[in-house]
This record gives sequence, structure tokens and C-alpha cells, in this order.
Amino acid sequence: MSSPSTVRRVMARDLGVKKRAGERIVMVTAYDALFARLVDDAGVDAILVGDSLGNVIAGLDSTIGVTLEQMIYHGTLVCRGAKRAMVIVDMPFMTYELGAERAAENCGRVVQQTGAQAVKLEGATAPVLAAVRATTELGVPVIGHLGLTPQRVLSIGGHRIQNKGDEGIARLIDDARRLEDAGAFAVVLELVPAAAAAAVRAAVSIPTIGIGAGVDCDGQVLVLPDLLGLNDDFAPRFLKRYASLGGEVRDAVRRYGDEVRAGAYPGPEHSV
Ligand code: KIV
Repeated sequence: MSSPSTVRRVMARDLGVKKRAGERIVMVTAYDALFARLVDDAGVDAILVGDSLGNVIAGLDSTIGVTLEQMIYHGTLVCRGAKRAMVIVDMPFMTYELGAERAAENCGRVVQQTGAQAVKLEGATAPVLAAVRATTELGVPVIGHLGLTPQRVLSIGGHRIQNKGDEGIARLIDDARRLEDAGAFAVVLELVPAAAAAAVRAAVSIPTIGIGAGVDCDGQVLVLPDLLGLNDDFAPRFLKRYASLGGEVRDAVRRYGDEVRAGAYPGPEHSV
């Protein structure tokens, strides 16, 4: 590994450079320094401190209960672990939709206190677009998030595919264009038909990062515990598991327990 002074951090503009060079962008979530260091070593371009932490590590039913303080805490941990990858922190529910000034202040606070390079905001309603404008004017890069926006799960009524049909695709394109005009440097497309993601990619010049959005995106993002097979009960069609760590963790802890009970661990070689 190189020393911190020789490592150049990936920044928002680098993702646009990658898109124009035809290189796919690799993003994963992480929520602490331990995994941030591992995925950074694995060479990802960007680490998203997703508010999915509400579901995957806090045991909540949705992301609505996640607070700004929690995102700042986890963002700080991830920034401590990641030396090269860009760190993006999700802005949680109700921290950016209630006035542009308040939004910019919250987003500014997140990058100031965590050391992250960007924030992510869901949706493209008028208040969100105003928040994107005010935040980028403050000098904080913003990535948008369209399609399934989990912070709206109460009104959407569940995690279902969004922007189906010609009308849905047209709406997605309009929203992506509005986000680009407001200053977003990229946009995440979650759970939309592959044809919708392809149409957005052709309509905007900012990178599109897909999750459950098919092959025609400029990059992909996955939730790390899903990718690693730590969530056995989550198996949507779009997910590919690259490991089965859930089973390995259970097996390792079971063997440890068996050995402690049998007096086989610790042995003389583990004693000081
Ligand atoms: O919170 C999150 O992890 C996300 C990804 C699913 C894109 O927003």
C-alpha cells in the first residue's frame, strides 16, 4: 500500500472522466472503517455510506428511522478507513427536503464533520432540486438517486420496480435531466427497467450508477453485506452474491464455541 501522501483520492469529476473514457464505475456501500479499508484495498472507485445501514446493520424495517447524527458517525468511520476511494454519504430522510438553506447547511455539516467527498439525495421534486442547487453552490458535490427511492417507501407502498412503461421512462428522463441541470455530478438509478436506465444514460451527460437497473449504466453499486452473502434472506433477481460469508461466520463461531466447550481452545500454544 502507498503512503497517504502518494494516494490520489477519487473525486466527483473523476467519475465523469471515467464515463467519457468508456470505463465502468465501481461503487459499493460500507458503514465502518474495517470494511471501508477492505473495499478500498480492493480498488473500488467510490464507497457509499448508504442509509441502507438502517436495514442492513441497525435492523430497521426501512431507512426512515436513520438520523443525521448516525450518518455523520458512520461517515466518519468510513472516511477513516478509505484512503483512495471517494466517500459519498447518504443524506437521511427529512434533512434536505424542508428548505434549500437548511439542506445546504446539513450537507455542508456532513462533509465538514466526516471528511466525505460528496453527499447523495433521493428524488427530483422541486424541494430536492432546490437542495441540490444550494448544496452544489456551497461547493459540495451531490449525486442524485432516482427510480426506487427507499425514503419514500411509505407512499410508494413497498420495494417495487419503478418507472415502468413509456410514461415512466419519460418521467425518469425528465427527472435525471433536472438533476443534471441542478448540478448533480451523477445519478443512482435503483430498481428500474433496463430500458429506462438505458434511455436515461443516452439523455444525460452525467454518469448513471445502477442497482437493479440492468447492464446499460455507466457504473454499478451494491450493498456490501448483500454482495458478500451476509444477508441470506435478501435475494432479489438483480443481486449477485460474490461470497457466502453468512454461512462462514456461523460455521466459524460454531467451531469456536465447540472448542471452548470441549476445552480445546485455548491450547498451550495460545497461552502466555
Ligand atoms: O442506501 C443505500 O445503500 C443506497 C444504495 C442502495 C444505492 O442508496
